[in-house]
Amino acid sequence: MPAELICFSERCRSRFRITEPIYNCPKCGSLLEAGYSGNAMPAPMLKTLWRGRRSSNAPLDQSGVWRYREMIPFLDNYDSVVTLREGNTPLLPAPKAAQYGGLDFLTFKHQGFNPTGSFKDNGMTCGASQAVRLGMKRVACVSTGNTSASMAAYSSAAGLQPIIFIPHGNISYGKLAQALEYGAKTLQVEANFDQILALVRVLADKLGIYLLNSVNPFRIEGQKTIIVEMMDYRDWNPPDWIVLPGGNLGNTSAFGKALRELRDWGLIGKMPRLAVIQAEGSAPFYDLMQTDSRSALRAVEHPQTLATAIKIGDPVSWPKALHEVTQSNGVVELVSEQEIADAKAIIGLCGIGCEPASAATLAGIRKLTAEGVIAHDADVVAVLTGNVLKDPDYIYRYHTGELEAPGGVRIRPTFGNKPIVVPNDADKIAALLDN
Ligand code: F0G
Repeated sequence: MPAELICFSERCRSRFRITEPIYNCPKCGSLLEAGYSGNAMPAPMLKTLWRGRRSSNAPLDQSGVWRYREMIPFLDNYDSVVTLREGNTPLLPAPKAAQYGGLDFLTFKHQGFNPTGSFKDNGMTCGASQAVRLGMKRVACVSTGNTSASMAAYSSAAGLQPIIFIPHGNISYGKLAQALEYGAKTLQVEANFDQILALVRVLADKLGIYLLNSVNPFRIEGQKTIIVEMMDYRDWNPPDWIVLPGGNLGNTSAFGKALRELRDWGLIGKMPRLAVIQAEGSAPFYDLMQTDSRSALRAVEHPQTLATAIKIGDPVSWPKALHEVTQSNGVVELVSEQEIADAKAIIGLCGIGCEPASAATLAGIRKLTAEGVIAHDADVVAVLTGNVLKDPDYIYRYHTGELEAPGGVRIRPTFGNKPIVVPNDADKIAALLDN
């Protein structure tokens, strides 16, 4: 199916070759997206084909991204594909979390089950494969941690040199450790995410390095498959709501594009509504939605949140995200540090666990059901974006009552579970356990 890069701006819609190493429209500066022409295979045939591939041992079929390759047909052939068998992430029912969130029933789609522990792998397999196709040697990204961990893994697997830029002291050790282990040249910059993104763009142009942040349209293509897989696992019954955390807003853009394409190709009969949840101290998209015109996002200059993954004040993909939230009749909500921390502990008590940014989903659901925006009997899927082990320091501090929000306010360990120091004495331990 012929593929092109298309300017996202309605006023421009300029088209460029799919093999141009560009991230913004050279004519007007807007975001770019991958677009396809030609006839899609009939929906029933696609569904049968994709289901059949689940029993295949071919690497491309075992990937929960490339299994759905008819939805992301930007490559001419699959020789350049680098896969770590990403995707294949489960839908997990979570009754305790449902009750906490004011719902009869709730399922999590847990992207933390990915090879590097976050949803970034769904997009990175596509971004890295495009880099190989273009003959690139070096790739770069700025990251709050997960993108860099994922990019480091996929580019090393592909024989590319990964160069990552991170805000010094502002990413979790779990994520930093992954980048080091996967062999990334790691540069810690004394600046925040938004400032570093501007820097990396300049360097990428100057040095001919391929940029793998979510402005890269191929990352977005890969992240679309999170939704395709969700629908496949639900036998093509869309939920009423899909809830996700919002940072740089690449995922919101990807989910919306996937839903529109699935609807247009006849694979789903209705559009779920998107609910995007932001952290209170880092909520420029929420602020935008409160304005009448919604025409210009005002960046938060010094974003603050312990959910460092979504500590982003100037999200690049906001025009796409705005379009997708509007198209899906969606909402944007914000939650406090305390609400995120408690929701995270509840997700842990379900035996599931996730990193702080992911827990914003359940905190948001609790608020949206209390406000009557989401009905208690709605069919809701929340996407957990990162693995529980990404940020163990946060967990320990919460459970021991040492967690402090930005500004120094202590987080209450509402569901705290402190380790107990005991003597090496069976009787004393037995007495303690019987109490
Ligand atoms: N959840 C997690 C765990 C993340 O790592 C991110 C983004 C988000 C949610 C937000 O997703 O940006 O698509 O709205 N992390 C990026 C990074 C920015 O550099 O790893 P988004």
